Amino acid sequence: MACLLLGAVLLGKLALCVTAQEMLAPPGQVRFESTDFRNILRWAAPTNSCSLQYNIQYKIYGDIDWLNVSGCQGIQKHQCDLSSVTSDTREWYYARARASSVLSSSKSAWAMSRRFSPRWDTKISPPAVKLSSSKQGIVVQVKPPRVLVRKTHISVDYNIYVIHANEKEEVYKFAYCSHKLTLTELKPKTHYCIQAQTVIPRHMRSSDRSSAKCITTA
Ligand SMILES: *[C@@H]1O[C@H](CO)[C@@H](O)[C@H](O)[C@H]1NC(C)=O
Repeated sequence: MACLLLGAVLLGKLALCVTAQEMLAPPGQVRFESTDFRNILRWAAPTNSCSLQYNIQYKIYGDIDWLNVSGCQGIQKHQCDLSSVTSDTREWYYARARASSVLSSSKSAWAMSRRFSPRWDTKISPPAVKLSSSKQGIVVQVKPPRVLVRKTHISVDYNIYVIHANEKEEVYKFAYCSHKLTLTELKPKTHYCIQAQTVIPRHMRSSDRSSAKCITTA
């Protein structure tokens, strides 16, 4: 009887230990969220989380080895900036995240992102637009998305949409080297609305249109 009891106690202890190891679920929804080539990896805490920290690795599609993302090791937040290790716009990347418990030193399995392409998956922001009216016509000033310019040396163009009162629209294309475009040959004392779009010709990518700004000609 005593022997049997001992066995049960041992088994009980063993079971506890195993469940403690298994209880740490991996992070959920590991994904890249990218705007203007700023590539942020985000994830959700496992439901049974308390005092967790995360380790992040990445690899280039086709490579075998996962590499640690320095600056994303043992972190407690649920996001990390992977821009510097995912900066080659021609490559495809994977990232993965693992949770570990600060208290018990147990680790979760790795949870992997989907394949990420900076070139195709990043969301391009529309430019900031400022309008003024002059004798010559409407002066459109555009400012490219700040991060895009800081992070890349990719040349940027713009499409300027001029929406007439009758809702017909015209498109003007112009290059980043000039921030200013003067629209001439417009009717005087007429209301026009303008939208702009960032275009990256090399990547065949463009932003949504900016929200419309309107002005009346002199
Ligand atoms: C990644 O970091 C862990 C510790 O944080 C280390 O054990 C492992 O060897 C590292 N892996 C690589 C590929 O550098």
